[in-house]
Amino acid sequence: MGKRIVLLGPPGAGKGTLARQLADEIDVPHVATGDMLRAEVAEGTDLGLKAKQIMDSGGLVPDAIVVEMAVERLSRPDATDGWILDGFPRDVEQAIDLERQFSGAVPDITLYMGLDTDEIVRRITGRRVCPRGHVYHVDSNPPRTPGTCDEDGLELTQRDDDTKEVVAKRLQVYWEEIDPLVAHYDELGVLRRLDASGDAESVHARAIQLVSD
Ligand code: AP5
Repeated sequence: MGKRIVLLGPPGAGKGTLARQLADEIDVPHVATGDMLRAEVAEGTDLGLKAKQIMDSGGLVPDAIVVEMAVERLSRPDATDGWILDGFPRDVEQAIDLERQFSGAVPDITLYMGLDTDEIVRRITGRRVCPRGHVYHVDSNPPRTPGTCDEDGLELTQRDDDTKEVVAKRLQVYWEEIDPLVAHYDELGVLRRLDASGDAESVHARAIQLVSD
């Protein structure tokens, strides 16, 4: 089974949900640039302050910042044997930069998650998160007590970029970047298409089949 996995897909497709399951199963770190940026925002760092404005508008944080952050994370000892990238690379420049930083190494597999727009919006607008990053959905993955995280009892909120207006912008940015990125991984021979519809268990089962082939 390939252990260097990239998850591509629209906002709200379920990349984070799937990445967490796969990372546990194959025992590699889940590296999500969105989570890393949100941690910077929560800590109030200079980077976090800059990133927040961009994230709240639905745009992309500059490549140089994100690549440096990802490379630093992937250089740690726990990532030597593999990783699951979620939300990174976001464009071809980031993909090529990543390969350059790791002496031309390419992922073993890239799962390209496809989902229709109505379901994307349903998943995003129903998402609730706790300050420590646990993720729920009001319909498909509700907490035991509405509004409260099962894991740590903290209050659940909506992400600031999960409004309908910002989601529209995030989707527009996504569609501008995704085709060249998909073509890049297709040319490298590592692209697999994953139907991201259906419940999380079905998506996970399909993903396992694809990464095990
Ligand atoms: P990021 O955090 O990466 O956001 P995203 O790519 O838009 O993806 P999401 O986190 O919204 O969704 P997801 O696919 O992980 O879905 P999830 O599993 O949570 O990036 C945020 C921002 O940071 C960007 O806009 C940008 O500004 C910046 N950024 C990040 N990386 C960057 C980069 N590389 N370059 C530049 N800028 C960058 O699921 C969604 C919901 O659906 C949840 O409620 C979940 O419970 C539910 N759900 C999941 N799967 C299913 C299922 N199968 N059935 C029903 N419900 C499901």
